Amino acid sequence: MDHFLYKGGILHAEDVPLPEIAAAVGTPAYVYSAATLLRHYRLFDEALAPLPHLVCYAVKAASNVAILKLLGDAGAGMDVVSEGEYRRARAAGVPGDRIVFSGVGKTRAEMRHVLEGGVRQINLESEPEMRLLSEVATSLGVEVPVTVRVNPDVDARTHEKIATGRSDNKFGIPISKARAVYAEIAALPGLRVVGIDVHIGSQLTDLEPFRLAYRKVADLTETLRADGHTIERLDLGGGLGIPYARSNLAPPLPSDYGALIAEEVGHLGCEIEIEPGRLIAGNAGILMASTVFVKEGEGRDFLIVDAAMNDLIRPAMYGAHHDIVPVREAAPGAEMRPFDIVGPVCESGDTFAKGRDMVPLSEGELIAFRSAGAYGAVMASEYNSRPLVPEVLVQGDQYAVIRPRPTFDEMISRDTIPQWLHDA
Ligand code: LLP
Repeated sequence: MDHFLYKGGILHAEDVPLPEIAAAVGTPAYVYSAATLLRHYRLFDEALAPLPHLVCYAVKAASNVAILKLLGDAGAGMDVVSEGEYRRARAAGVPGDRIVFSGVGKTRAEMRHVLEGGVRQINLESEPEMRLLSEVATSLGVEVPVTVRVNPDVDARTHEKIATGRSDNKFGIPISKARAVYAEIAALPGLRVVGIDVHIGSQLTDLEPFRLAYRKVADLTETLRADGHTIERLDLGGGLGIPYARSNLAPPLPSDYGALIAEEVGHLGCEIEIEPGRLIAGNAGILMASTVFVKEGEGRDFLIVDAAMNDLIRPAMYGAHHDIVPVREAAPGAEMRPFDIVGPVCESGDTFAKGRDMVPLSEGELIAFRSAGAYGAVMASEYNSRPLVPEVLVQGDQYAVIRPRPTFDEMISRDTIPQWLHDA
């Protein structure tokens, strides 16, 4: 459930009519609902209530500092994958001991930065990374809590670009090598084993792959404990999917997911960490846009809008579906007809939907791409020299711009012309 509903025929974000935001900041613009973000975070927190746990929001999904502060103040931990994300979490006031650091390619500089700033744990993904972290930790005179991300070789049954738990993916170490790797870590100075980490993919709409992966992690916990390691935390990753199309079957709920976790690993007495991103932010944000032209083509009509693939890349990159709705609700029984809904960028891939049934819209009308809160603004670029779109956070009847739209001058003035070209 989200808080983007029609009231009096106008789509609202909580209690704010979207046309009011469009009038203030223009389009395209990302709009987030604080109530939805908090509701989704709390669903996970409640689902894990029977076990000691920390819900570490995956910052990559939507990383605006205002969003991180909202969730951090509610008690969330953070899962970060770069120094930039770590700095955002800290700027939002999240203490280091609630931040876990994941990722396959952490650099020496990044390790140093988070060790100096404080970190709850580092999830290791390879042997060279362990050795480097040991060296950095020792040079700073600290001991860092670590887990190893194991690759359980489970098919997450999701889009191939976002499946991460198969042995042919770049992530984690093969579970078959885990004993040897943990033995090596135990011998390295500066590292303290605290648990095991696993993440098998994103937008999972079926619990079975989680069950298979967590069962393997439970077995590994017993094996590693028998080898003498302290396994007191299990980081079970993120990945629970969301309904993108209202017409689709709803994926499992956080409560089902929590019950599965309790069933598979609850007996081990570990503190549970999870790293959900999409389910917290996805349906808590929309991308609002305006129609520019309605263009009649041969055998098809195009709705050309002012948002493009640089603002929301998911349809172009993954063939992802986003519901697209008019901000002014269609009259009951209004006749729909199919449109290709496209942006202005000079690529055919800049297509949000093909043959999508819409009520005919005229030029300058507002539309909303639903479920755009996760992997939306964070994946935006300035391709075609289109400035990044602004972000707006709504809470009740108030809203605030949490990232302004850069001016064209701001965008262009970041480029500098070398002196030798001036002299020419
Ligand atoms: N933890 C780790 C280690 C991850 O790699 C990810 C996502 C998450 C947690 C959060 O997963 P979530 O709960 O959001 O599914 N850009 C793609 C999604 C990429 C996901 C990458 N990793 C998309 O737009 O579908």
